[in-house]
Amino acid sequence: MTADLYAESGEFIDVFSRDAWQAFRTPVVTALHRAVPDQGPILDIGAGTGLGTLLVAETLPGAEIVAVEPSPILRAVLLSRLLDNESRRPRVTVVAAGIQDWTPPARLGGVLAMNMLGHLAPEQRRTLWTALHERLTPSAPLIVNLQPPAEVTTIPPTTFASITIGGRTYQGGGEARPAGNNTVTWTMSYRTLGQDGNVEREIVVAYPWHVVSPTELLDELADAGFTATVGKLDVVVATPHS
Ligand SMILES: C[S@@+](CC[C@H](N)C(=O)[O-])C[C@H]1O[C@@H](n2cnc3c(N)ncnc32)[C@H](O)[C@@H]1O
Repeated sequence: MTADLYAESGEFIDVFSRDAWQAFRTPVVTALHRAVPDQGPILDIGAGTGLGTLLVAETLPGAEIVAVEPSPILRAVLLSRLLDNESRRPRVTVVAAGIQDWTPPARLGGVLAMNMLGHLAPEQRRTLWTALHERLTPSAPLIVNLQPPAEVTTIPPTTFASITIGGRTYQGGGEARPAGNNTVTWTMSYRTLGQDGNVEREIVVAYPWHVVSPTELLDELADAGFTATVGKLDVVVATPHS
């Protein structure tokens, strides 16, 4: 079991993920229409607070879903969401694990792994692609996305989002620095501003992020037996080619 990278920032992840998921909706739904839920569950790897899980449940009514999520704080939001809805509740199973510590079911009808690839080291990615290729129904999609940076480089401090809820405004931002070995360190800052605009709280967290370029990812997937394309918003859809 590895440390929960979201132990401190988990409070803010759902708030700052919603706009991104509005944008991801179209490419992810389009890819999900190729899923084959009667051949096996849909796996959501690194499901977080469940924004993608809910989209799977909505797009594929009746599909069984397995949401794998190692962070207790993010799982708490996910579980709460599932409890809220009687039609989703029986068909979404939450697994408390990192994907490298868990064996997926023998057959899968599709896989989603959004906004999480950089958490996996290259050898973990390769092991995962092989395991998924063995289990995915032919023509069923593995849906992942590339996130910046595509190479080891510096990204200067940038504010990603600012969202007001009641009398507080939440600002999320971050910067990346090279950390060697195909890795950058993202240092994220989450600020809570009062109505006077002053910063009431600031949480700063740093974590390693494994960098993968589009070419590297497509090569890895091809080596594991997938045909893959990079589409809108760097969403990659891969299907087993045999
Ligand atoms: C930025 S969040 C994205 C969450 C969700 N997929 C979304 O798009 O809203 C990254 C997620 O990956 C999870 N994660 C980190 N390491 C993981 C691992 N080894 N296996 C599975 N999930 C992991 C984190 O706990 C977190 O939920």
